[in-house]
Amino acid sequence: GASVASVPLAGNALAQAPTPHTSGPRSFPAGFLWGSATASYQVEGAATEGGRGPTIWDTFSHTPGKTHNGDTGDVADDFYHRYPEDVKFMRGLGLKTCRFSIAWSRIFPNGTGAPNQAGIDFYRRLTETLLANGIEPYATLFHWDLPQALQDKGGWENRDTAKAFADYAGFIAGRLSGTVRNIMTTNEIRSFTEIGYGSGRHAPGLQVGRKRLAQLTHHAVLAHGLAVRAIRASAPRAKLGLAENSSATVPVIEAPEHIAAARIAMREENAQYLGVILSGKYTDHYLRKLGADAPQFTAEDLAAISSPIDFVGVNVYTPDYVRAADNEIGYVSVPPPASFPHMLSPWLTVGPEALYWAPRLIHENWHPKEQFITENGCSSTDQMAPDGEIYDTDRVMYLRNYIANMHRAVTEGIPIKGYFLWSLLDNYEWADGYDKRFGITYVDFKTQKRTLKLSGHLYKEIIARNSLM
Ligand code: NOJ
Repeated sequence: GASVASVPLAGNALAQAPTPHTSGPRSFPAGFLWGSATASYQVEGAATEGGRGPTIWDTFSHTPGKTHNGDTGDVADDFYHRYPEDVKFMRGLGLKTCRFSIAWSRIFPNGTGAPNQAGIDFYRRLTETLLANGIEPYATLFHWDLPQALQDKGGWENRDTAKAFADYAGFIAGRLSGTVRNIMTTNEIRSFTEIGYGSGRHAPGLQVGRKRLAQLTHHAVLAHGLAVRAIRASAPRAKLGLAENSSATVPVIEAPEHIAAARIAMREENAQYLGVILSGKYTDHYLRKLGADAPQFTAEDLAAISSPIDFVGVNVYTPDYVRAADNEIGYVSVPPPASFPHMLSPWLTVGPEALYWAPRLIHENWHPKEQFITENGCSSTDQMAPDGEIYDTDRVMYLRNYIANMHRAVTEGIPIKGYFLWSLLDNYEWADGYDKRFGITYVDFKTQKRTLKLSGHLYKEIIARNSLM
């Protein structure tokens, strides 16, 4: 409509009116929610403004040697100040929805205690602005920026952190219930536990060993479940889910025995994350594997953890290939050979069929009512050409192929209701700093100028047509 044409996009060679809505074999169902995704610490900046309390990522990124180039999220995309223009930019893309995260320490600077009105007001203004631009907010309540005050008391190793999270979640969901109707509790429990406390490459940068890792992971899924209960009480009309990077198990080839193996692998490789959340139990295999290192838990914990949710969000980047095997569990993982193609981030192997198999195998194992792809995207070198455009043909290739596989899943009846592209903007890629760009919009971090990349123009076309070309 008029909004698309009214927002000028930077650059000239690529700027044009998008093709209108079409209906054909590559179309998505009417009302499919096309969105973008970001997270507070990666885009907001304003790290000491508005009463925000310090987080583990402030501490970690300011510790020498922990991040690429010593980069921090102090300024990032300055989204805290620039959100009005950025929301207009989103509208120009035709986005129907936007996934963002709320910084816990803007609401409770110390994690618990007295709330900070300036923080609540910021997210109210942001979500009002989104709605005024026809964009439905999807809020994540925890995207890794744990208040430092809670880390000082043990972080996720302390069971009280789960309770503190539920208190914060119930509080902010109630306060924002006028503008926020869709909530994800946590983002990627697998990542903030395994990388934060296992390898130590992310904040808080610990290596606690298998037993403590299993216990703190239990506290994290418990935090999700207690938060679901708290939000149901304070915002009964909210739609609730979470965003998890399930292991995206993919059969090595599409043959019945490997498909069956990938289905088992989906269950077992996600046992302590999505599995316990969606089924209410740890699998026998998971508990047997850990033996004496298995977490301590009660039946009441499991009931809380598996509190009913309205949708499952899945972040999908890389495939985890598995094949059938004649062993106790029926599958083995097949790691990618050294020559396997990847994007700029070395871990980001390109396996578009992950965006078909992950939703399908989640569906076959646990049958959630609705699924969203809460993240998908990639890093690329993104050089600016002499004409000022960014021709990220590799990202275009990546997105086209992943979205084609999502289309197959939708066509086969898997209830995927929307897709959030990671990311709207180049941003702070955690320990990789500003070195790895994931945006469909280029950000010049010196001037904060935004330029839509070729991939952004592709996405704008897909959204306008509600179809892949
Ligand atoms: C998953 C995380 O949720 C997000 O914060 C990160 O930037 C992307 N993956 C890319 O690594």
